[in-house]
Amino acid sequence: MDLTYRPRRLRRSSALRSMVREHSLHASDFIYPLFVHEGKNIEPIGAMPGANRWTIDTLVGEVQRAWDLGIRCIVLFPKVDESLKTEDGAECFNDNGLIPRAIRRLKKELPEMTVMTDVALDPYSCDGHDGIVSSQGVVLNDETVEFLCRQAVVQAQAGADLIGPSDMMDGRVGAIRESLDDDGFEHVGIISYTAKYSSAYYGPFREALDSAPRAASKKPIPKDKSTYQMDPANAREAITEAQLDEQEGSDILMVKPGLAYLDIIYRLRQESELPIAAYNVSGEFAMVKAAAEKGWIDEKAVVLETLLSFKRAGADLILTYHACDAAEWLIKG
Ligand code: PBG
Repeated sequence: MDLTYRPRRLRRSSALRSMVREHSLHASDFIYPLFVHEGKNIEPIGAMPGANRWTIDTLVGEVQRAWDLGIRCIVLFPKVDESLKTEDGAECFNDNGLIPRAIRRLKKELPEMTVMTDVALDPYSCDGHDGIVSSQGVVLNDETVEFLCRQAVVQAQAGADLIGPSDMMDGRVGAIRESLDDDGFEHVGIISYTAKYSSAYYGPFREALDSAPRAASKKPIPKDKSTYQMDPANAREAITEAQLDEQEGSDILMVKPGLAYLDIIYRLRQESELPIAAYNVSGEFAMVKAAAEKGWIDEKAVVLETLLSFKRAGADLILTYHACDAAEWLIKG
C-alpha cells in the first residue's frame, strides 16, 4: 500500500511507545480511602475484598505502608457506633470523636502524610442521610450546613489538611471556607465533591459504614439521596456545580463516581483550571475484585488501565481503594 501515514511506526517497540506516551500514573496521583472503627480488631469488609475497618492503632501501620509506597494523601471514613448516631448527627463535631482522634494520632506519627476528611452527616445520622431530615422527611439544607461547618472546623483543629464536603448541600463550600478562615485555618484546603451523583455504585461503602438511608425514627425517610446528589442523566448541571464550588473557594474539584462519569471529568477539565479528582468508588472496586476472584479478568491490568482512563479524561488525582496495590505494581512493573 502507498501510505504516507502509518501510525504503527510509533508503536513498533516498547522504547518508542514510552517516548510518545501521553499519560502516566504515579503513586502521588492516588488518594487512599481508609475506614476506621472503635473495635479492637481489624475487620474485613465483605463486598470490598482487601479493604478493612482499621482500629486507630492498626491504621497507623497501614498509612505508613502507603507512605512507603509513595502515596501522599489518605482520606478517612468512620464507622460510628450505633449508640452514637442521632437524628441530627451531632457526633460529627465531637472533638473527641473517632475521626479527630484518628487524625491527631496520624499527624503525631506521620506528620508529612496529607490527611483528607469527609464532611457529611451520614455516618453519624440514625437516618443514614448526609443532612438533617425534617419531621416531614425533607433533607434540610441550611440547618445541615451549620453542622457541616462545625464538623470541618473540628477536623481542621485535629490537623486535617484537606476538608472534603461530600454532602451536596447548596452553599456548603463557601460556608465551610468562611468558618475555617474565621477560626484561623485559612491554610486548610477544600476538596469538594463537586459533581457527586446519586449512584448505585456506593453500595459496598454504605455496607462498610452501615450508613445506608433507613427508617430508624418515626418520620418519613427518603429512601435514596436524589434530592441532594445529582441525577445520573445530567451533565450540564455538573458545570454549574463546578462554577459554584470554584466561586465559593474550593481548591480541588471532584467527580464521583469515576468510571461511569468520565465524560464529566473531561468536561470539568475543559471548564476549570483547578486540579480535578476522580473517585473510583466502592462499587467499581467491588466489580473488579469479584471478576478477578473468579479468574475472569487480569486484576492488575484492568486496575492500571482503569486508573489511567481517569488521567486521560483529565483527572489529576484519583481516590481509589486500589491505591496500595497499584503503587506496588508501578514500582515492581
Ligand atoms: C458519604 C460518602 C459516600 C461515599 C463517600 N462519602 C456515600 C454516599 O454518599 O452515600 C461513597 C464512596 C464509595 O462508594 O466508595 N457522604
